[in-house]
Amino acid sequence: MAISIRPLHPLLGAEVAGVDLRRPLDAADVAAIEAGMDRHAVLVFHDQPLSDEQQVAFSRNFGTIEPAVNSNVIKPEERRLSVELADISNLDRDQRVLARDDRRRMFNLGNELWHSDSSFRAVPAKYSLLSARAIPSKGGNTEFADMRAAYDALDDETKAEVEDLICEHSLIYSRSLLGFADFDEEEKAAFAPVRQRLVRTHPVTGRKSLFLASHAGTIVGWPMPEARAFLRDLVEHATQRQFVYVHQWRQYDLVMWDNRQTMHRARRYKSDEVRDMRRTTIAGAGPTVAQAGAPEAPRRPGAAVQG
Ligand SMILES: [Fe+2]
Repeated sequence: MAISIRPLHPLLGAEVAGVDLRRPLDAADVAAIEAGMDRHAVLVFHDQPLSDEQQVAFSRNFGTIEPAVNSNVIKPEERRLSVELADISNLDRDQRVLARDDRRRMFNLGNELWHSDSSFRAVPAKYSLLSARAIPSKGGNTEFADMRAAYDALDDETKAEVEDLICEHSLIYSRSLLGFADFDEEEKAAFAPVRQRLVRTHPVTGRKSLFLASHAGTIVGWPMPEARAFLRDLVEHATQRQFVYVHQWRQYDLVMWDNRQTMHRARRYKSDEVRDMRRTTIAGAGPTVAQAGAPEAPRRPGAAVQG
């Protein structure tokens, strides 16, 4: 059976049928999925009861897996999953639901703010692949916003203003929005801000998009309150209903999205129910801009730092 792709929304999101992700894919299948990602930015595969190993093997078709380290406050000895998988559950390593005031749970509530995965890393993520192993009885949707459409809808004056802006992204900014500021010295060092362009160009389609996230806390060269007010305006603009696809999870869905073209957020669910989601993340091709303090790299004419 050949792969078929059916749009779920006028702008972003499509459902893929005719493929079993537990089995090795041939080059044509991988190319069809990549083309679907370039066009729809979010792909949904239903009824894929994957093991961790199968999820990792499928993910490797699309690049190098970004290790799930320095991205939350779970200590190495508390890990439930291998470093190839980010634990997007509310469980501890004994499979018990975390207490409502558990520090790890409170930190992870930051996923309910609009963001792009790993924009707080110097090399931000290309794709994320999220597998729903167990879902709550209601709530817990994931919403995706199309940052290409959001860019396109800006007026020309704003497009010119944002074109060359550089933001600083950090988990410390996004968590402070929820009043979580309880970081030890090791975490503060791990979560030091990185620089990202505000406007990115997709390497295949050439479309521009806004690269925003709750992690973005400053614009280089701007006064802080003005930067934060402007970033809030842009996020509000980019997440208008017409730009958003809402995914209502079924058990064993695998949803993959392009972090270069979308933002997403999780929605609330009952804190005493199990939600076991496991994410593999594909690393981007490189930084979007030179980092502060980094030695000036020799630039060839026309060599862009984009990813
Ligand atoms: Fe995320």
